[in-house]
Amino acid sequence: MITSMEINSAPLAPGVQIPLIGLGTWPLRGEEASRAVAHALELGYQHVDTAENYQNEEAVGEGIRRSGIDRDDIFITTKFNTEWHSRDGVREAFARSARRLGVDYLDLLLVHWPNPQQGRFVEACEGLQALADQGLIRSWGVSNFKPEHLDLVMDTGLRVPINQVQIDPTTSQPELLAYHREHAIQTAAYSPLGRGAGFLDAPALTVPAAELGKTPAQVALRWHMQHGRVAVPKSADPTRQRQNLEVFDFALTSKQMLAIDALESGAPARLDSDVFFH
Ligand SMILES: NC(=O)c1ccc[n+]([C@@H]2O[C@H](COP(=O)([O-])OP(=O)(O)OC[C@H]3O[C@@H](n4cnc5c(N)ncnc54)[C@H](OP(=O)(O)O)[C@@H]3O)[C@@H](O)[C@H]2O)c1
Repeated sequence: MITSMEINSAPLAPGVQIPLIGLGTWPLRGEEASRAVAHALELGYQHVDTAENYQNEEAVGEGIRRSGIDRDDIFITTKFNTEWHSRDGVREAFARSARRLGVDYLDLLLVHWPNPQQGRFVEACEGLQALADQGLIRSWGVSNFKPEHLDLVMDTGLRVPINQVQIDPTTSQPELLAYHREHAIQTAAYSPLGRGAGFLDAPALTVPAAELGKTPAQVALRWHMQHGRVAVPKSADPTRQRQNLEVFDFALTSKQMLAIDALESGAPARLDSDVFFH
């Protein structure tokens, strides 16, 4: 257990803080997922990211129980598919995820994809707010939403607490992030290490890594942290899990931050959420 390091968090709702580092669990399944989750929690992770679509919620729940750590000390994020985009559907999605995970409440439940052709993501958000009002979930949010999707949700008067989107140094979606800042929407970065993309070799990461005695991946995660983002790196490897948590005991200078910002390539997210969904 890492005790010498504060795991920073961000506010999501009154009385709800989200730990900035979470364990990503896609594409882990079965025993591999349970083992990875239990090990991460034993290391000191306080946040686990799963989804209905990953087909690993049971295994994640098993990992949580195996860790022996009090459920109330763990922040659980999960997400549901677009078939549940209605008020009753969201309630059913919650019940199914909670049952698979073996818990009676969720910390964060996300609309996984907007599916604008179906056109019911606003209803899904209203359903999530109702679940939060009833105390079944501590907070709610969305994932893969573009500004035009967020506008439609906020037109109803709802405030969107968090949007989990693909962000890394080369794909940093600057217009979306500016929109989040303008509307006080917390950003969570998925694929925060680019899913093994080549940018970990870039001097903007390798030079500070060598100076600080850290790895390029730790520098990338620190860059996310200093931008105030949640990041959910996936690792099933004990050494890399530990490294991904050890990002609160050093700091990047503003010059180093700007050099990483400059890796932005203008590339769009891998999947276009106007057409892709599940
Ligand atoms: N909301 C969404 O639509 C959405 C979409 C995609 C992903 N996600 C979430 O985001 C999580 C993370 O995204 P991701 O899995 O796409 O990409 P990622 O976390 O950026 O990259 C994972 C890859 O990097 C490796 N890795 C991890 N830590 C490392 C380190 N310190 N140094 C070098 N390599 C390292 C992992 O291998 P090892 O396991 O061998 O370490 C794995 O191959 C997912 O698990 C999932 O929970 C959400």
